[in-house]
Amino acid sequence: MLDVNAALAQPHVTRRDAYRAPDWLVPQIDLDFDLDPAATRVRARLQVVRNEADASAIRLDGGGQSPVSVTVDGVARSDWSIDDGALIIPLAGDAHLIETDVTIAPERNTQLMGLYASGGLLCTQCEAEGFRRITFFPDRPDVLSRYFVRMTADKERYPVLLANGDPIDSGDLPDGRHWAEWRDPFPKPSYLFAMVAGDLVANRASFTTRSGRQVALGIWVRASDLAKTGHALAALQTAMKWDEDVYGREYDLDVFNIVAVDDFNFGAMENKGLNIFNSRYILADPDTATDYDFDGVSAVVAHEYFHNWSGNRVTCRDWFQLSLKEGFTVFRDQSFSADQGSAAVKRIEDVRALRAAQFPEDAGPLAHPVRPESYIEISNFYTATIYNKGAEVIRMMATMLGAERFRAGTDLYFDRFDGTAATCEDFVACMEEGGAVDFAQFRHWYSQAGTPRVTATLRHDAAAGTALLKLSQMVPPTPDQSSKPAMVLPLRLKLFGSDTGRPMGDEQLVLLDSPSADIMFDKVTEPPLLSINRQFSAPVIVETNRSPADLARLSACDDDPFARYEAMQQLMLDTIVASVTHGRGDHAAVIAAIAETLDDPALDPAFVAEAVLLPADSFIGDQLAVVDPEAIFRARDALRREIGRTLETKWRAAYAQAAALGPFEYSPVAKGHRRLKSVSLGYIAASGAGDADSIAFAQFEAADNMTDRQGALTTLVNGQSNTRVAALDIFYNRYSDNPLVLDKWFSTQALASREDTPTIVFDLAHHRDFTLANPNRARALVGAFSVNQRAFHAADGRGYRFVADQLIALDKLNPQTAAKLVPPLGRWKRFNPERAALMRAELERILAVPGVSRDMFEQASRSLTG
Ligand code: TRP
Ligand code: ZN
Repeated sequence: MLDVNAALAQPHVTRRDAYRAPDWLVPQIDLDFDLDPAATRVRARLQVVRNEADASAIRLDGGGQSPVSVTVDGVARSDWSIDDGALIIPLAGDAHLIETDVTIAPERNTQLMGLYASGGLLCTQCEAEGFRRITFFPDRPDVLSRYFVRMTADKERYPVLLANGDPIDSGDLPDGRHWAEWRDPFPKPSYLFAMVAGDLVANRASFTTRSGRQVALGIWVRASDLAKTGHALAALQTAMKWDEDVYGREYDLDVFNIVAVDDFNFGAMENKGLNIFNSRYILADPDTATDYDFDGVSAVVAHEYFHNWSGNRVTCRDWFQLSLKEGFTVFRDQSFSADQGSAAVKRIEDVRALRAAQFPEDAGPLAHPVRPESYIEISNFYTATIYNKGAEVIRMMATMLGAERFRAGTDLYFDRFDGTAATCEDFVACMEEGGAVDFAQFRHWYSQAGTPRVTATLRHDAAAGTALLKLSQMVPPTPDQSSKPAMVLPLRLKLFGSDTGRPMGDEQLVLLDSPSADIMFDKVTEPPLLSINRQFSAPVIVETNRSPADLARLSACDDDPFARYEAMQQLMLDTIVASVTHGRGDHAAVIAAIAETLDDPALDPAFVAEAVLLPADSFIGDQLAVVDPEAIFRARDALRREIGRTLETKWRAAYAQAAALGPFEYSPVAKGHRRLKSVSLGYIAASGAGDADSIAFAQFEAADNMTDRQGALTTLVNGQSNTRVAALDIFYNRYSDNPLVLDKWFSTQALASREDTPTIVFDLAHHRDFTLANPNRARALVGAFSVNQRAFHAADGRGYRFVADQLIALDKLNPQTAAKLVPPLGRWKRFNPERAALMRAELERILAVPGVSRDMFEQASRSLTG
């Protein structure tokens, strides 16, 4: 009998504690590209300098290419060898010039790592380990080089030739080809290398830095997309100014280019001076992009721009330090977005995203610390933990230090580590030094996985006029980590009087750094209500002894909008969980709290829209010992229908008021109204009102923007009438030539809460516009379906089988994108034994495929054992 696991070559595991400085440095590299989609010739000249006395050879990582020739100091060599794709050349001296010559085929590159073709363009993606697929090189982030790049290409097909840094020279060749040379003065790791060739046009502008440098900005797209680049360009200018004002960080080159490409594994990439973006984070106009998309464009443009300092000027020593640049940069982009509109709504969105993606990750088989200890494939570690929990860790330090000392810490960090490859430890040490604090215990946030749980019990002593708050913490076990020391949890808290609704005392920042602590309050003149983890000051789960009435009261009187939202969410969650577990939840308390929120004239509509939304199915599931998707759906749906029915008049009034707004405008106020309009429409439909469908269809047809159109479409798609089919057809025909909008057409159907969603989705996988070759399209159907809890977890396992089939097919094209879609199958422990067995069987089937990628192997095998 063949043992599947033994038959697999056991993939190499990289460990954090095995870090060693590089044997050789490469201060300078010259690259010469002769570009052609079928066969691109890459000649590289590496100036290498010995860094380790004992090294008798140099190891240059590779990605399957074979060298046409290898010379050292001008002399052809034949004593090289290939080991696991890497080129090994014996070297005796201290400094050498290595020249290699390879040919690669961008049009056959379906992994979208290295140099690849996308919609007629040639472009690169090198993070984390894509550069080795272009040429032989020590492809690790602590080898920093100056790059000189020459590109030659057919002028008609590729009139625009871009690379990192500044353009040096360009010219025409007699055979219809042309060339361009670029030089990047800043030493950088290979993962920041980029190059683009194609028929592109630019939306140009300039930015003057505070010290007077004129920067030429360009956003490069197909000519037909030029009109959709204004929002991204404006966001870039706003972000450049913001980083000067808030962090004192100025841009450092004369040009900053962004290119949009259709086929991209991630959101975008911060290559020095030449960001490359998934087109979904650049292209936006009211007809094709929702408000959510517009916000995503600004956030990602800002994120990649901010990397110029947090990532490029100061980079990572090794990939275990990934959160050094990603956690910090996410924190920076979150703060930026908060400053552009409602900070409270932004915080609500960020916390919701953290709970939807990171909390389940931290509670499952793929849990890992913000600074992991080992990996098989680094691409699998671009996770919500590294990015979003990493951002929360930075945010906690900022909270504990206060704005001024936090800034002193970041100034010190940028100053001390500029031009180097640093570690998470370096960052924390700068925070300590700049902020004059001790973060010894706080460092557990980098090494311990799992979401800490805080229990908070408040007891009032009316006679003494005091209240006692008992706090305790517990960090749950995770794979490879059983018992864990207490962490430092910064908890913002405040008491309110339950009779008057008035604050009792100021907000306090409590640092819970022991397993338990007591906090005494005096002058407690009326029964107190506990408002805790205000602004979500620590990324923890808080359990309290607050009754539905307490939560309802807080949802109306708390003076922190985030805490108001939290009280409402907790009330809804408790109610639905009670319905699921013992059949009776207190609907009346939820309905009264929603009514009060809708009636409060002081509230921002954007906030109201968030506050009245029920928690998602999957978040409800996370609260239960065993997830029963059908029972959760029924309980949530019953509450939803009752909220719709009971408050129907209010929903109609809210809808009418929001709908009375004039023509489309992209502003925080207008966005808030559109959001409340969509949410109200959803509740009008949930009420069962006979005219709900026609209201939705009228909105769908009359909409002058995608937010309203997609909002109406979502309502229709979830409904039972046949206007659903009509609306989907109209939508499809109107946008059939726009891939980003077609993605919405697929994902709206995959996310629908309908009995027949699985069947619809399986059919869509055979639709002529469906392809796994485009990551956005694959995610729009397969990714969206797998987070639709009720549809994916259909009891007979057909949802699991479908997703596994798709992942097996996708793994052959694009392992990185396939592996990112494994986690929903890995949640088997949370379901009943029947579902768990079905899920495990699919993971085993994935692992048994001959030639399964390292990416999939790691995700699927960890999911089975963890
Ligand atoms: N550094 C990129 C970001 O933060 C992430 C990224 C872009 C990426 N492309 C990738 C990560 C490909 C892994 C693989 O936005
Ligand atoms: Zn990033």
